[in-house]
Parts: sequence; structure tokens; C-alpha cells
Amino acid sequence: MELPRKVLVVGGGGREHALVSALAASPSRPAVYCAPGNAGIAAEAEIVELSPDSAVGIERLLEFARSSAIDLTVVGPEAPLVLGIADRFEEAGLAVFGPPAAGARLEGSKSFTKEFLARHHIATAAFEVFEEAADARRHVESCPLPVVLKADGLAAGKGVIVARERREALEAVDAILLERRFGEAGRKLVVEEFLEGAELSLMVITDGSSYLPLETAQDYTAAYDGGLGPNTGGMGAFSPHRPLGEPAMQRVLQSVIRPTLAGLREEGIAFRGVLYAGLMLTRGGPRVLEFNVRLGDPETQPILYRLRSDFLAVVTAALAGTEAPPDETLARQVLEWDPRPAVCVVAASGGYPGSYRKGLRIEGFDAAFQSTPPGELKIFHAGTARGPSGEVVTAGGRVLGVTALGATREEARRRAYRALEEIRFEGMSYRRDIAAAE
Ligand code: AMP
Ligand code: GLY
Repeated sequence: MELPRKVLVVGGGGREHALVSALAASPSRPAVYCAPGNAGIAAEAEIVELSPDSAVGIERLLEFARSSAIDLTVVGPEAPLVLGIADRFEEAGLAVFGPPAAGARLEGSKSFTKEFLARHHIATAAFEVFEEAADARRHVESCPLPVVLKADGLAAGKGVIVARERREALEAVDAILLERRFGEAGRKLVVEEFLEGAELSLMVITDGSSYLPLETAQDYTAAYDGGLGPNTGGMGAFSPHRPLGEPAMQRVLQSVIRPTLAGLREEGIAFRGVLYAGLMLTRGGPRVLEFNVRLGDPETQPILYRLRSDFLAVVTAALAGTEAPPDETLARQVLEWDPRPAVCVVAASGGYPGSYRKGLRIEGFDAAFQSTPPGELKIFHAGTARGPSGEVVTAGGRVLGVTALGATREEARRRAYRALEEIRFEGMSYRRDIAAAE
């Protein structure tokens, strides 16, 4: 199969830096562009100063892709997918890796997802959907505790409340439906049964029917050590996760991934991209907590850093679907991984996930690389930019994803933290317990 020669990555965080690196490493040597990118991505791809975070932004990017003859667009974040970037690019005849808006609803609307799961008999927590606070309050007055309350729409990972006390649950109803703490995302409220078990995330690359599971990773979403503090986009991750065991993996694939893809097909949704299932492994089997319709951030950083296969070939196979030559279909791809574990620790701006300053000079990159054997450290940039005299400065809440390989998880972890000691910017903070033994 001929591989795309001009590839555009959409987004500007750590996940997109990892995508850019993986795509640029293809032996076919594609030209890689990234919109809007960041200071680290700028060293590996051509920056396109456009942000497809609105319908107008998507049209501008489409214009760029057309006029520059981009032959593959890979979408990192969920927001443009929910806005329909894949639909617009496909209508214009451009290849895009990422589902259409109808498929992105699996992430964009929790009530849609719950109803989809119910329609297709896929196991999930029992639930009810409310629009009226009075109805929701009445339900929550008498339901078993703990209970889980979820704002329907996109809330940057912050719209889920696990209430252990009735008062907390009632407050959450008011915060979401009356005070609109999550804005329009809280037009509807999903109230669901609390599930117990071990959590597992699984990402698969799919052409809509076949799928290829990626290596596993564990991420850390709480802001502070020991899982304390507010939820964030993710403060670190390591890959592989503790081994799940082949029977459990097969069970997840058979009881969740396959029926979800079949359900999407039945509903006429051509889902090409990444399906990310957040699961609870309960005593009664795996149940879906949520779906994402893109790669996880920061899980992607340690996962793709370990990938030895040509990621561009995998994405190309997913887009070709059944049109791919028989021995090059997605189902025939075998992913090869570096057996060594990778650990990614996120350096964040002081104050994140609350308010924080930007434009602070970041120093110590060279010393960080000198602290680690060559080829075993990668600093993925997230919120970074170039300052007035070309220096790298902070430009977001999550700033860097310092990612190291090691013979053991412990060695990878030590290396990531050793490198972090060399990096400095005012207010820099990070968790100390990423990938620590429990
Ligand atoms: P979600 O964004 O839906 O994955 O929810 C965020 C986190 O809330 C999950 O990773 C779980 O830790 C927790 N959670 C969500 N739904 C449930 C549930 N039904 N039972 C127990 N914990 C849940
Ligand atoms: N790290 C969680 C996510 O990407 O949604």
C-alpha cells in the first residue's frame, strides 16, 4: 500500500507530540505538519498556525489541507471530532483518521452512550437520565449510595461526581442542572449505579470492523500524590499496565469492543480511528464506564514511545478498511513493541488544574538528556511556546511529559524523575508517585 506523503496532525498537546514523532519515524519519511502544535512539535513537524476549535477554524484548516495537498489528517483531541472535523474533511475527499461527529457522540454525550449501550446489550452501570432538577433530586433522595452523577457533555474530565453521601449527591444535582457548573455540558444529567472492581482502559485502532488493540497503560488523573486533589487531564502514565491476562483481555474484546463496533455499523456510523473504552472489571464481568473516541493523553506518550512498528502504515490500513490489499489489512497488522516499560511524568504549571501563569521560561533540557542514556528519554511538549527571544516558555497547564524507558518499570521511573530534576520553570509541579510500586 502506498503510504501518505503529507500528513497533518491536529492538536497541540503531549499526545500530538507523540503522534508527530511516531508518524515522522515512518521509514517512508512523510512530511509532517501540525496544527497548532507547540514548541517541541515545531522541531519535528511544520507548524500550521490554525486551531480547529470552532466550525470556522475547521473550514480554515480544511482550506489549508486542500491547498497543501495533505493526504492524511490524524485528529488528536475530541473537541474537533465532536464538531464534525472528520465529516467535513471526508466530504471534501480528504482522508482523515478519527470518527465522524455521529461516532464522536460516544464521547461527547454520556446519555447517548448509555442509551447506545442499552440498545446493543453491552454491560454498563444501571442509569437514568434527567433534565429536570426536581426529578433528579427525587431519584437521588432514595437511591442506594454511593451514586455516580455525570454531566452529559464534554467537561474536560471534570464532570463526574462519585457521591458517597446523600447531601453530596443532591448538591451535585444542583451544581450540574441548576447552577450549570459545566455549562451546556450539564443540560442533561446521567445518574448511575456505583460499580466496584478494578479499572482498566483499553484503546483499539479500528477501521470500523477490524480492530487492533494497543499496548495497555495506566494513567493518573488526580492532581496530587496518592490520588488526592482535583481531577486533571492526566498527571502521568506508564506502559505496559500490570498484565491483564489473555482470558480477561479476550472477554473485554468479545463483550465490549466487538459489540460496540457492530452497534456503530448497525447505526450507519463509519467509525475509523481510535475507540478508547474505560471499563470496570466487576465480579460479573467487564462493564463500560465511558468511551473516548481518540487516544488518551498522557497514556499515548509512553505507549507510542514503545511502538516499534510503522504507525503510519497502521493508520493507513485502518483508513483503507476492506479496500486494503488482503495481506495489508488492519487485521493483518502485527504491532511490535519495545519490551521495556516506559514511564511518563507530567510537569505542570503551578496552580493547575486551577488558574496558572504562562510565558515562564523553561530551562534544563540539555542537562535532562545528559542524565539519561541516549535514546531512552523523550520530553514530549504539551503547553509550550517560543518566547520573544526564541526561548521555550510555558503556555498551558500541562507543560511537559518527561518519558523514559528502562529495563524495569522502576528503572524507567528513576530515569524520568532524574531528568525532571534538571528541568526548571517557576512554579513547576509534578506528582512524585507516578509508576511507584503500590
Ligand atoms: P468517566 O469519566 O465516566 O470514566 O468517570 C471518571 C471516573 O469516575 C472513572 O475513572 C471511575 O473512577 C469513576 N466512575 C465513573 N463511573 C463510575 C461508576 N458507575 N462506578 C464507580 N466509579 C465510577
Ligand atoms: N487520560 C485520560 C484521557 O485522555 O481521557
